[in-house]
Amino acid sequence: MLKANQNYLKLQGSYLFSTIAKKVAAYKEANPDKQVISLGIGDVTRPLTGTILKAIHDAADEMGKAETFRGYAPDLGYAFLREAIAEKEYRSRGIEIHEDEIFVSDGAKSDSGNIQEIFSGECRIAVCDPVYPVYVDSNVMAGRTGVYDAASERWSNVIYMPCTAGNGFIPELPDEVPDIIYICSPNNPTGTAMSRQDLARWVDYANEHGSVIIFDAAYEAYISEEGIAHSVYECEGARNCAIEIRSFSKNAGFTGVRLGYTVVPKDLKDADGVVLNSLWARRHGTKFNGAPYIQQRAGEAVYSPGGLAETRALVAYYMENAKTIMDGLKDAGYTLYGGVNAPYIWLKVPDGMKSWDFFDYLLTNASVVGTPGSGFGPSGEGYFRLTAFGTHENTAEAVRRIKELKG
Ligand code: MLT
Repeated sequence: MLKANQNYLKLQGSYLFSTIAKKVAAYKEANPDKQVISLGIGDVTRPLTGTILKAIHDAADEMGKAETFRGYAPDLGYAFLREAIAEKEYRSRGIEIHEDEIFVSDGAKSDSGNIQEIFSGECRIAVCDPVYPVYVDSNVMAGRTGVYDAASERWSNVIYMPCTAGNGFIPELPDEVPDIIYICSPNNPTGTAMSRQDLARWVDYANEHGSVIIFDAAYEAYISEEGIAHSVYECEGARNCAIEIRSFSKNAGFTGVRLGYTVVPKDLKDADGVVLNSLWARRHGTKFNGAPYIQQRAGEAVYSPGGLAETRALVAYYMENAKTIMDGLKDAGYTLYGGVNAPYIWLKVPDGMKSWDFFDYLLTNASVVGTPGSGFGPSGEGYFRLTAFGTHENTAEAVRRIKELKG
């Protein structure tokens, strides 16, 4: 008898950004004369830079010649890219990570959703609340989360670590010991970042309790302050307890190109001594035919002198938007967090309004789209996320409209 995967039926509603896209499409259809500005999904708006484009064109030309044509990419990634990552992201910063610990993929979203597959269904996960929805949803799909309680909006088998203004949006070590701990820093959605010291406490905790940390560093390029960890492997002992997920989307503007990677150190083992690096390699071999050659050459170009300079300029461009939002809305009396080491601003919704009500209010009255904080978890209620990934013009105009609403 054919039966659907019952875990999928437990998922709550549609994916957050799909729900928002539907609402915005309906609004646009009903208001064709309005210019809608999206500061919602964290999607980049600047075009690919010159060095990256050249690498893409050159690689495409190679694919068009018999002598340089390539078929399937190696499923773990081309050596040229794995070596560039190991050298430029890790070894040059004094971190010991080897090429064969780096797994190239089509992006951090896939990796952060798929990585849970190498762990037993019995493992207990801990997530920050609010949280990037992929972590929880992918564990719901795997049947790991237990029963959903609609009143508290929580799964019975998930350990939630509230991140609130009260704790500076930094999770506290949980009393109940999780097997898998998801940490994203700089954080999506709150835009706050963990100090190296804070992260080191988590690494010590994970090593002490035999847990694994899945560290999502997709926004690492946005760190501007000293003392914030760019990589979990800056912390002593992390090779024994942490997996790191990285992306080319937010630094080099690859959201539409698709390229990312995951680091699984060979020292990382489960309680029986199983080497998790081998499991992730096995999974890639079976389920993935490698990120395309053209994309991987583009990724390699990110580490060239031109690519590095252009990437820095892109990040600076978006962080100027973050400043425009922070300055403009603070001036209008809003309470804001984040926006300094991350391209996200976490805004306290005014007048005790609910997050989704504020979403509707902004869309209807200012034609500005953001992301309701409650979409990221119950502790996000009363907050609203704005992204700095718009154009300068649209960002300034959105801020002007929001300020105008305040009167
Ligand atoms: C977001 O808006 O949270 C991000 O764009 C999601 C993602 O990178 O997948």
